[in-house]
Amino acid sequence: MSTTDLLADLETIGRTPGGGYTRLAWDPATMALREWFAGQAAALGLEVTEDGNGNQIAWWGTGPDALLVGSHLDSVPEGGPLDGPLGVASALAAVAGLKASGWTPSRPLGVVNFTDEEGGRFGIACLGSRLATGAIDPAIALALRDDSGTTLAEVMQAQGRDPRAAGPSAWLADVSSYVELHVEQGRWLAPHDAPVGVASAIWPHGRYRFDFCGEGNHAGATAMADRHDPMLAYAATVLAARDLATATDQRATLGRVRVEPGSTNSIPSRVTAWLDARAFDHVALTTMVAGIRARAEAAAASDGTTVGFTAESESDAVTFDPALRHRLAALLDAPVLATGAGHDAGILAARVPTAMLFVRNPTGVSHAPQESAEPEDIEAGTVALSKVIEELA
Ligand code: GLV
Ligand code: MN
Ligand code: MN
Repeated sequence: MSTTDLLADLETIGRTPGGGYTRLAWDPATMALREWFAGQAAALGLEVTEDGNGNQIAWWGTGPDALLVGSHLDSVPEGGPLDGPLGVASALAAVAGLKASGWTPSRPLGVVNFTDEEGGRFGIACLGSRLATGAIDPAIALALRDDSGTTLAEVMQAQGRDPRAAGPSAWLADVSSYVELHVEQGRWLAPHDAPVGVASAIWPHGRYRFDFCGEGNHAGATAMADRHDPMLAYAATVLAARDLATATDQRATLGRVRVEPGSTNSIPSRVTAWLDARAFDHVALTTMVAGIRARAEAAAASDGTTVGFTAESESDAVTFDPALRHRLAALLDAPVLATGAGHDAGILAARVPTAMLFVRNPTGVSHAPQESAEPEDIEAGTVALSKVIEELA
């Protein structure tokens, strides 16, 4: 059972006409992926469990001091094939290879499929791992709504889960380290001629919502001087995000926008837009976001419109456990690199020593259908993860 063969099983699940994947938490695609995960794990003789948040863990042995490996199977809308599934499939393939070789772990080993890492449906990233570790209040999480207005509680109930079980997970007390393998996001390993790297840190990041409100009116009959068009402050905010992030070599993105009523011949009454911002450290992040917000407010005021601001989620900077990172980098003779992307490993790192392995991405593209890795690099990543499991378990 190779990682590439396992990934081939998933090729049609959640596939979109544009060649990407839309696999949002609890949708038919992720439900099919959950079944696939349970089936593969059972075939390996692992005991499959699911916590009250929907996180699946397949156990080889039980009890304290466990090593957890894995990732997530959900995607962003129109995402690529590897962000998430590579970490789950390589963990299953590594276990299969180790079992076939006759090796047995000296401590319990779990393969995890975290629920809703991308936050593509309810807006908050790493919801499954945040709930499991107590990083978010379950009452807040269960009240989150998707674009159709359905709450997470209703969605879980519709899938036969009891939302009252959501919240801190008992398995966490048994886990003493977590290792997540992931496709590289960005292009650092290719010029350094390395198929696999070890993560040092994750930048702090946040997701923020702007609610621009104005006055709907007729696109032909309303003179330009008489308008209160919220689209203009939105446009100024997009440019402010570009300017401030560029000036400081940080990241700011407005990748999601909703216009109401959304009619070609009407001035909008409301524009809702989401900012994703990432920076070197917490101070830099809050300074950049405050600057973008100030430009949004100034633009709205000059147009006679208003803007509301809500921080939907913020994640602190993560420095992965230095001892574990050095040990794995030496074991694998692999370079160490930082990442601008978020991961469940960043959430787990606040509770247990955690490490990440990255597999070279020749183009660096991620969160898009072109995301890729060469089969030889996927194999090298799987071999690296097997070595890590042998070393730690
Ligand atoms: C997840 O991949 C993120 O960085 O948003
Ligand atoms: Mn992602
Ligand atoms: Mn991911």
